[in-house]
Amino acid sequence: MTETGNRPTTTDAGIPVASDEHSLTVGPDGPILLQDNYLIEQMANFNRERITERQPHAKGGGAFGKFVVTGDVSAYTKASVFQPKTETDMLIRFSTVAGERGSPDTWRDPRGFAVKFYTSDGNYDMVGNNTPVFFVRDPMKFQHFIRSQKRRADNNLRDNDMQWDFWTLSPESAHQVTWLMGDRGIPKTWRHMNGYSSHTYMWVNAEGEKFWVKYHFKTDQGIDFLTQEEADRLAGADHDYHNRDLYRAIERGDYPSWTLYVQIMPFAEAETYRFNPFDLTKVWPHGDYPLHEVGRMTLTANPTDFHTQIEQAAFEPNNLVPGIGPSPDKMLLARLFSYADAHRARLGVNYKQIPVNAAHVPVHAYSKDGVMRVENVSDPVYAPNSKGGPHADTARFGEPAGWETSGEMVHAAYTKRRDDDDFIQAGTLVREVMDDAARERLVSNVAGHLGDGVTEPVLRRAFEYWRNVDKDIGDRIENAVRSAG
Ligand code: NDP
Ligand code: HEM
Repeated sequence: MTETGNRPTTTDAGIPVASDEHSLTVGPDGPILLQDNYLIEQMANFNRERITERQPHAKGGGAFGKFVVTGDVSAYTKASVFQPKTETDMLIRFSTVAGERGSPDTWRDPRGFAVKFYTSDGNYDMVGNNTPVFFVRDPMKFQHFIRSQKRRADNNLRDNDMQWDFWTLSPESAHQVTWLMGDRGIPKTWRHMNGYSSHTYMWVNAEGEKFWVKYHFKTDQGIDFLTQEEADRLAGADHDYHNRDLYRAIERGDYPSWTLYVQIMPFAEAETYRFNPFDLTKVWPHGDYPLHEVGRMTLTANPTDFHTQIEQAAFEPNNLVPGIGPSPDKMLLARLFSYADAHRARLGVNYKQIPVNAAHVPVHAYSKDGVMRVENVSDPVYAPNSKGGPHADTARFGEPAGWETSGEMVHAAYTKRRDDDDFIQAGTLVREVMDDAARERLVSNVAGHLGDGVTEPVLRRAFEYWRNVDKDIGDRIENAVRSAG
């Protein structure tokens, strides 16, 4: 018997129970008694085991590790987490976007790449994806985009027609869709993919100088992918394939790591750059903004309780620490509200007291009470006060990073610039980054998707969409779909 096996079973109140196997009855054959508190507790707890799953990104897994700074970016940010040689505990959660909690890991989808750094200035969350761009650039369209990826109202089925209807009516999606339909749309494992902030963030150094940055976590395991056929087979054979791979790698001591680089744009250049650098559907070409090494993230520990440590993990892009701020990316600005709102609905108002979400530094907040509060609140419960309560150290921390802005209130797209074209970067990806074999797989992946339930007039629009990305690829996709149908 193990040591734990020697411990007596108790109720949740710590009271020893009489039996693990039999409920309390009137004689062996008689009715069950209401005073069998343990039976009732077991049934009641069981009925409440499931919590609401995340709306997007419901299926995922994660691990704990360390981030070690190997470069020197102190000229660009004063953030304590990125100062030379600093080591910071961190948590990461990988996920798919559209599938539910039980869905296959190998569906074609972007992968979430959500990192929580437990820094000396409080929690810093970098909630990114394995792709450097996104399908839409205005948060008004995010909810609609996700619904088009999920299930229909009538038959509760996912529907390619709905997906392509949305995409072809939203040409800004072309870059992300091209990326998704290419090899990186189904990573071999989570260990074999990069992570990106996608958004531009602001960095501020100790002198108050501001810079725009994009994060690239490059896998040290090398990029690898699954073909559509391999992914389809695995979706049936082992639908937890990516979860299992990460867990087993860490279990055998094969700790995966990623090197973090940033692209840095001088603050003033954003105004004159040839396209809007805050537009989430575009990358900054490496030729214009090269990568600077920041540090290495290594995952060394699996969760010991998936529910408390991963399912209840709450990542929120609004968790920004001194030295790091948002940018005028409209998507990012909306996300600064959306996540904490989702957590309050999914986990309750005191979700930051769940140990995995708690800062590793003392918290001196004026939040008070609420459902499931476990940390004691002490007086004074208001500010300003003359009773020794915490007070904001404005001289030390200053205002959060920001920028000047003014204008009429409008519902409008970003102002157009010279290279603000929805298809340019998708075309570059097809023509200059992919090789012949990758282009062939792209055609086959798209044709397979379009051939599975997409109807007119959406189909016609889809061929046009692809011809706008690249004339040759569009023609090949149309030929492949027409000859298969
Ligand atoms: P570069 O040649 O400097 O960069 C090409 C990038 O493409 C590399 O980052 C590479 O990732 C990535 N890549 C390689 N194969 C694929 C694939 N099948 N699917 C998606 N990405 C792939 O050129 P630019 O910086 O000028 O960018 C050219 C195009 O590359 C862009 O239009 C964009 O579509 C794509 N891209 C650009 C990124 C950027 O931040 N600039 C990031 C990722 C993609 P790796 O570094 O792992 O080799
Ligand atoms: C999860 C909203 C865009 C990455 C979520 C969740 C919401 C949400 C509500 C569920 C949170 C939870 O219940 O825990 C939005 C909105 C967006 C947006 C409103 C745009 C306006 C993006 C973008 C990225 C991203 C652009 C990547 C760059 C993620 C990730 C998760 C997630 C990784 C899962 C986090 C985890 O592992 O817990 N999003 N999202 N989202 N989102 Fe977004």
